[in-house]
Amino acid sequence: MKLACIGIGQVGFALANNLQQKGHDITIAHNNIQSESVLSAQKRNSSFSALSIQEAINTSEVIFLATPFSAAEAILLSLDFAGKTLVDCTNPVGPGISHGLESKISGAEKVQEWAPTAKVVKAYTIYGFENLENPSFPDYHIKPVMLIAGNEATAKEQVETLNTDLGFNTLDTGNLSQALHLEHMTLLWVKMVRVNRHHPNFTWAYLER
Ligand SMILES: NC(=O)c1ccc[n+]([C@@H]2O[C@H](COP(=O)([O-])OP(=O)(O)OC[C@H]3O[C@@H](n4cnc5c(N)ncnc54)[C@H](OP(=O)(O)O)[C@@H]3O)[C@@H](O)[C@H]2O)c1
Repeated sequence: MKLACIGIGQVGFALANNLQQKGHDITIAHNNIQSESVLSAQKRNSSFSALSIQEAINTSEVIFLATPFSAAEAILLSLDFAGKTLVDCTNPVGPGISHGLESKISGAEKVQEWAPTAKVVKAYTIYGFENLENPSFPDYHIKPVMLIAGNEATAKEQVETLNTDLGFNTLDTGNLSQALHLEHMTLLWVKMVRVNRHHPNFTWAYLER
């Protein structure tokens, strides 16, 4: 698939680098070609191309949003996604690792408001970047699960394909309003690992009977 990343830091690079190695075309969607993260990503993976954000959207099938949540509104309001899939990887985190929108609405639904022409899917937020850099758990016969949410089945199918390529099973939790609960799962993981010092290299799994 042709993929673009708005934000190519810890999360954006981990996704882009692994997906490039699975045969996907990656474009860095930037508003500053000289930014530290853009230069570093291109140095670490010379196959990435780079375009302005709108040009990258125009030439891609799926776009990842992997910037701070606080930057998203200003970035998105000027863009036209023309019905393309926008994967919201951001987390609205407030003071004391609380939900940044006071749990009234998910960040993903705000992203959808700011990008009304996109098909927004929430994904890649419930774990730290360590598990996006390396989603492999060779000692287990079951793959880690990636929980997703979104209103559009076709967009979720695209994300499921990418999940499979990355090494995740997909659990579709329902429509985009479910993203609020995924964002709380993020807070759980972040508090366990970043505050309580639980080891970061763990994920959840889906068992069904
Ligand atoms: N870190 C984690 O473990 C983790 C896991 C899951 C989800 N998340 C979420 O994923 C998002 C990215 O986190 P990260 O850890 O990857 O952050 P990061 O390493 O700081 O990278 C952020 C990226 O966003 C870019 N950016 C920032 N402001 C921008 C703007 N106004 N316009 C365009 N690009 C901008 C940065 O570019 P510059 O170099 O120009 O600043 C950089 O490429 C956050 O919302 C975070 O909550 C993080």
